[in-house]
Amino acid sequence: MEEILNQYETVQASDATIWFKAGKIEDFPTNRGGCIKYKNKQIAIFNFARRNAWYACQNACPHKMEMVLSRGMTGSADDIPKIACPMHKKTFSLIDGSNLNGDDYRIATYPVKIIENEVFVGFVD
Ligand code: FES
Repeated sequence: MEEILNQYETVQASDATIWFKAGKIEDFPTNRGGCIKYKNKQIAIFNFARRNAWYACQNACPHKMEMVLSRGMTGSADDIPKIACPMHKKTFSLIDGSNLNGDDYRIATYPVKIIENEVFVGFVD
């Protein structure tokens, strides 16, 4: 399980050296998630239309290592955009990946940028 988690590390937009083209805007549902594969990573991407913002994070939920976060429910907690895992409802900040239930879990988040009609996710390798 550690091996899977070790593949994922948060990337800040200013650190991204690779902007991977994930698809077109219409490839992603609004206010829900979609999943892409980048190298050996599964990345969940959210078109959070209610906030007019896009977010990306690891698809693996660190609770039971299920590849499910793209199927989770988006929402906001104290104005922090969040994703709730569909399995046991643990919730994570889409800004910094911290767990919002007070658990010791964390997810990696990735920057997203939209250029014209295309969605790019930033990575460092
Ligand atoms: S697998 Fe995600 S909360 Fe349990």
